Amino acid sequence: MDINAMSEKEIEKKLIELSRKAMENSYSPYSKFRVGAAILTQNGKVYTGVNVENASFGATICAERTAVIKAVSEGDIRFKAIALSSDADSFIYPCGVCRQVFSEFDKGEMKVICSNSKGQYRSFRLSEMLPNVFEL
Ligand code: THU
Repeated sequence: MDINAMSEKEIEKKLIELSRKAMENSYSPYSKFRVGAAILTQNGKVYTGVNVENASFGATICAERTAVIKAVSEGDIRFKAIALSSDADSFIYPCGVCRQVFSEFDKGEMKVICSNSKGQYRSFRLSEMLPNVFEL
């Protein structure tokens, strides 16, 4: 993505679109709740992710963490923003575990873009979503 040629709003909309498209691959036979994520790295790459459920429910991984893990395993650990989509009418917000995982790689500046099924969205800084973060 040529992020230098795009406005903040264009970037937000593009990431939502990519997260929505990714959602098609959600593996969610148990909850039937599809989630898609698209994370933008500081160097303009986008990694998508979906929730991947398991018959042993605790082994399920959220869409956001799938996207982060894909990026980190390719050597990209600096992020600008992440967008989330689901089929719900209400906005989807990242769970606490995912917020903690974001915080491993970001000091709070990263934008978290939470959308609903109508394509409306709300953006937050990670520091707003997870203040007083645990660090070692
Ligand atoms: N889920 C996500 O992928 N991201 C979130 O932020 C919240 C929950 C997934 C996990 C599970 O597959 C389904 O949504 C229902 O909890």
